[in-house]
Amino acid sequence: MSAVNAVNRQMTLRRYPDGVPREDDFAVIESAIPEIADGEVLCRAIYLTVDPYIRVHISPSMSIGYAPTTPLGAPIPGEAVLQVVRSRHAKIREGDYVAGFGGWQDYCALHGDALRAVDLSLAPLSAHLGSLGMPGLTAYAGMRKLADAKLGETVFVSAALGGVGAVAGQLAKLQGCRVVGVSSSAEKCRYAVDELGYDACLDRTAPDFLGQVAAACPGGIDVNFENAGGEVFWAALQNMKAYGRVIICGLVSGYNDDAPPPGPDLSPNLLRTIALGRLVVKGLMVADYWDLRPAFLQEVGGMIREGRFKTREYVVTGLENAGRAMIDMLEGRNFGKTVVRITDDAPL
Ligand SMILES: NC(=O)c1ccc[n+]([C@@H]2O[C@H](COP(=O)([O-])OP(=O)(O)OC[C@H]3O[C@@H](n4cnc5c(N)ncnc54)[C@H](OP(=O)(O)O)[C@@H]3O)[C@@H](O)[C@H]2O)c1
Repeated sequence: MSAVNAVNRQMTLRRYPDGVPREDDFAVIESAIPEIADGEVLCRAIYLTVDPYIRVHISPSMSIGYAPTTPLGAPIPGEAVLQVVRSRHAKIREGDYVAGFGGWQDYCALHGDALRAVDLSLAPLSAHLGSLGMPGLTAYAGMRKLADAKLGETVFVSAALGGVGAVAGQLAKLQGCRVVGVSSSAEKCRYAVDELGYDACLDRTAPDFLGQVAAACPGGIDVNFENAGGEVFWAALQNMKAYGRVIICGLVSGYNDDAPPPGPDLSPNLLRTIALGRLVVKGLMVADYWDLRPAFLQEVGGMIREGRFKTREYVVTGLENAGRAMIDMLEGRNFGKTVVRITDDAPL
């Protein structure tokens, strides 16, 4: 039997954040190691994911079906790459690496049927929360099922280096598109162009960002893969080509807000632009596309293994720093998909 610590550290919420979370909104508490019933496994966390949807879970004003509000004092929810340390499931053995919704804690008890296997031959463990995890699958579904992107078309990707964006951008390039990304610094934009293969990448913090979008997309945008919302969304919308597709994947710019920003009602502008441009707006929810996972793993996983597809994580070390990792991600200080490494004694 594998060694198990005496206590389970859990990262919880002390209070609900008001705007951008602060590190003291979070608190590590200690609890007992969970018991497991028949069919369950006890896992230790190796990597936790830090995804934008987790911010939605810690805001009562944003409680929605797929992201109910996390109670104060309960571990923050989220997927993790885990190692099985006890098993009462017929097909899962001690030592196996798996992914599952373990939350932000050292140990979790989950039903074995709720776990997915992690194939270390495709990519390192951390990539199974990013490019090869839920964010990558989201990008794959958006590009393959909704975008209808054709050879030579211009695809615009916000949050271009993140878990979703880096995969969406690289898939769009593979489909023969011209791909324009958005990020938040010159260094990140350089990486997007030099390493991820974007044709151009624009710094959303630049004072002339709107002008840069128009200049980088002279014929207009055919597909806007929207990850950000806010000013980035409006800049893209003003540059859409007629009959363009707008894939609404996420609106991370607003996840720290309890209410819509004050100001005039912009819905008439929005609807007029959609109507005049004959735009097709499609909502994307990854939960509709779990059945694509085998094809996605085979295609994108295969390219990662062969070194033809880039994956990069922003790794923060230590459960106690998970709150800071979330703040970094929400403020754009992450450089790649944000994950927290919990243990040192597992393969990288
Ligand atoms: N619909 C679905 O099923 C689904 C599934 C997964 C994710 N999503 C959504 O997809 C989006 C990307 O998720 P991810 O996991 O790939 O996150 P991520 O890109 O790894 O991290 C979030 C990024 O958002 C950007 N950002 C932060 N504040 C911003 C602002 N005010 N304006 C513009 N950009 C801002 C930052 O990138 P830069 O610094 O590079 O700009 C930051 O790195 C999120 O909106 C998420 O909610 C949707």
